[in-house]
Amino acid sequence: MARSRGEKEEPEKYMGLLKLVQILSFLVVFAAGIIIGLATSSHMNRYFTRESFLFSDSRYSAPSSTPQGSCAVVQTCDDIDYLNIDKFVRPANLSHRMTDEQLFWRASMVPYKEEYPFERTPRVAFMFLTRGPLPLLPLWERFFKGHEKYFSIYVHALPGYKLNVSSDSPFYGRQIPSRNVGWGTVEMADAEKRLLANALLDFSNERFVLLSESCIPIYNFPTVYKYLTGSPYSFVESYDDPSRYGRGRYSRWMRPDIKIYQWRKGSQWFEMQRKVAIYIISDTKYLSLFRKYCKPSCYPDEHYIPTYLNIFHGSLMANRSVTWVDWSMLGPHPAMYKKENITEEFIQSLRNSNGSLCLYNEQRTSRCYLFARKFAPNTLEPLLKISSKVMEF
Ligand SMILES: *[C@@H]1O[C@H](CO)[C@@H](O)[C@H](O)[C@H]1NC(C)=O
Ligand SMILES: *[C@@H]1O[C@H](CO)[C@@H](O)[C@H](O)[C@H]1NC(C)=O
Ligand SMILES: *[C@@H]1O[C@H](CO)[C@@H](O)[C@H](O)[C@H]1NC(C)=O
Ligand SMILES: *[C@@H]1O[C@H](CO)[C@@H](O)[C@H](O)[C@H]1NC(C)=O
Ligand SMILES: *[C@@H]1O[C@H](CO)[C@@H](O)[C@H](O)[C@H]1NC(C)=O
Repeated sequence: MARSRGEKEEPEKYMGLLKLVQILSFLVVFAAGIIIGLATSSHMNRYFTRESFLFSDSRYSAPSSTPQGSCAVVQTCDDIDYLNIDKFVRPANLSHRMTDEQLFWRASMVPYKEEYPFERTPRVAFMFLTRGPLPLLPLWERFFKGHEKYFSIYVHALPGYKLNVSSDSPFYGRQIPSRNVGWGTVEMADAEKRLLANALLDFSNERFVLLSESCIPIYNFPTVYKYLTGSPYSFVESYDDPSRYGRGRYSRWMRPDIKIYQWRKGSQWFEMQRKVAIYIISDTKYLSLFRKYCKPSCYPDEHYIPTYLNIFHGSLMANRSVTWVDWSMLGPHPAMYKKENITEEFIQSLRNSNGSLCLYNEQRTSRCYLFARKFAPNTLEPLLKISSKVMEF
């Protein structure tokens, strides 16, 4: 019995041991599970913390874990329109600190895509090159009134000069960063390019007119706008003058890039389309030839643009100017008209070019000029008196 008990006791003891081993191994597995679990979760935590740090600057981060970043101040990062399209296509303020080199490079950008992602109304850029004041400003303000969507104004005055106009004038805030201009030197061509480049930054500008402080409009704005935007040609005067005032100013040092038969002369007061303006501000090579070899008694502003365009873009040119000027007095300066010269008949004769004809889009017309010069400051009053009757503005 004892034996059988013993026999019975033996397996009972064995079974007890087995159970103990089972419990112990379960505990070991359980503990290991906890340890592995803890280790994994801490790794995961670190992983996610790093992720949210990486994305903390953008909208991808979880709102609760956004650290103090640039976007924490405002509601969401979408509120900041860093690459504003409106300011890109039409700069609101003309002041900048670009050098000419940087400005010309930036202004030479041409969109490869043909359609515009905004409603583009072509504008005419009126670019005034002046030493300082604009004595005929009230006449121009009257000319522009009511047509704000169709023009942009740019003024290049001597550095330090501040145009005094009221804040409701279209000339307000339209002075561009300028440099000194020695009359008759290559600095004049530099200033013309500076005006063109500043105006090119506005993608809605399609036509570009250069004017001086003694210029006046002789037609009203809608007529001028239609005339310019309706032509595929640039109104740049360009002719071959065999005299000493033309070919006589050519320098043989400009060979082989400029040959004498390519040399042209023309009025400084141009009008051109966007494409041509971009060609001009993108040139460095030809202007540096003028800088070097078109010196005293050669006037770069009368030869550079007519010659450069004649060599490369002749087919885009009307070869005539839309700005009338009186050289009949002969001498180095054109005639200056004064108060006593202003009559209805005189302005009328400018409007129909005194009966002579020119070509406009392959058609003969007597409407050849849109602007005229030179007009003294005291012509303002008589001009304002007859403007609505004769010039229709
Ligand atoms: C600017 O023009 C206003 C109004 O014509 C005049 O009162 C003011 O004195 C001028 N300021 C300067 C600095 O010339
Ligand atoms: C353009 O910005 C300059 C510099 O910030 C400022 O002095 C000038 O008044 C601004 N012009 C206009 C028209 O807002
Ligand atoms: C202007 O002159 C150029 C030559 O430089 C010529 O190719 C072009 O056809 C002329 N333009 C017009 C409208 O006659
Ligand atoms: C302007 O009028 C004066 C006086 O009649 C005259 O002497 C002068 O030649 C005229 N000027 C021009 C440019 O026609
Ligand atoms: C227009 O022609 C007449 C006659 O030829 C001339 O006397 C007058 O000076 C001319 N006017 C202009 C503005 O060229």
